[in-house]
Amino acid sequence: MIGGQWGDEGKGKIVDLISPSFDLVARYQGGHNAGHTVRFQDKHFALRLIPSGICRQGVMNIVGNGLVIDPRALLYEMETLRAAGVEIGDNLKVSDRAHVILPTHALLDGAREKALGSANIGTTSRGIGPTYESKANRTGIRLADLVDADRFVELARPLLTHQGAVLRHFYGTDAPPVDAILQEYIECGQKLRRFVTDTSAYLGHELARGKKLLCEGAQGVMLDVDHGTYPFVTSSSCGPGGAVTGLGIAPRSIGLVLAVSKAYTTRVGSGPFPTELHDELGDRIRKRGNEFGTVTGRPRRVGWFDAVVARTAARLAGIDGIALTKLDVLDDLDEIPVCVGYELEGQPANEVPARADHYERVRPVLEVFPGWKTSIEGAATFDELPENAQRYVSALEKLTGVPVVILSTGAKREQTILRGRGILDGWLRDLDRT
Ligand code: IMP
Repeated sequence: MIGGQWGDEGKGKIVDLISPSFDLVARYQGGHNAGHTVRFQDKHFALRLIPSGICRQGVMNIVGNGLVIDPRALLYEMETLRAAGVEIGDNLKVSDRAHVILPTHALLDGAREKALGSANIGTTSRGIGPTYESKANRTGIRLADLVDADRFVELARPLLTHQGAVLRHFYGTDAPPVDAILQEYIECGQKLRRFVTDTSAYLGHELARGKKLLCEGAQGVMLDVDHGTYPFVTSSSCGPGGAVTGLGIAPRSIGLVLAVSKAYTTRVGSGPFPTELHDELGDRIRKRGNEFGTVTGRPRRVGWFDAVVARTAARLAGIDGIALTKLDVLDDLDEIPVCVGYELEGQPANEVPARADHYERVRPVLEVFPGWKTSIEGAATFDELPENAQRYVSALEKLTGVPVVILSTGAKREQTILRGRGILDGWLRDLDRT
């Protein structure tokens, strides 16, 4: 399950809905820049690192090798969940190959953003990019190292010292004393030790036994480090390829790809966004859709559904079905434009350009659909939707070439339409199990 746009598509609700059909739920990339909102009993949680299956009995949750983990954030998340009555023990495994975010990574993230001024990326300042940098330049520290105090000190001291010097020298920022960081992280390592294991080997074993695995993508295809709107992206591979490398599973073990997309579009942080609304209508949708970041609280930028983005996602990720969320947010609009193509300097341009400065100059070609002007909350089947809502959804299917198999018409689990199941048959079972 991946994000089909720029993240924040409502993946938490969808994974929460379908996770009873799976034996295992795994996160494969990103870190605590993500915020997946799920429901447990009557409470809502914003999960950052822990997979959304954690609130379900009998589901094993895997934090894969492709993640970057701030151990303090992971422990805090565990404590918060436990305090609310969620059991965390043998139902969670964390990869020994996942990388550790150090405080200096986060400080570097923030310092660089500040230095970039108005040209910044708008990161979450969690240290995600700098930690993936350490991973790629082979100075990174992994969970397997963190849980062994001597080895951790041996590896982390030079990295902390180096990054501390860079912070001081280039950014005029002081990092906390190295020994204090080492001590805090050693303690975290001891607390996390029982969860840390070779999750790729474990998954290989479970998949061979016929167990069903749900790979829970974070962010979205347009934030992918290779295929997104570089450099205004996150630093990991958000698509199904990321699930293969970020979990250490074989490509052929992926049987179905579900993309979650909003019925309109949002994005947080900087970067091109062709269908963005800068007017009062955008404010209305933002308010009605509660479009404020789960992690940072930042207002999200809002725009119309972009079929070029959706087609790109379909090509990159081989999407079998779309879970379309927040259709109800459009309930009171007279007209709903959809971007069906782009123009660049008067010429049709139907692919996302490689260069962000070119993408900024792209104009959306809009087709306008009539609104339905009535509440669709509580519609249990597609046929119950007003005709114009049905027409809108069918138009998106035609424009993207992908069937809309799940339709979300409100925040609650029951405000969901499963459309004839179709390709989901055989994948989703026992959906009533809560
Ligand atoms: P980073 O992942 O913190 O480095 O941020 C890089 C870009 O990805 C910024 O534009 C962030 O706003 C965006 N981003 C990161 N995580 C999320 C997410 O979970 N939802 C939406 N945008 C995100």
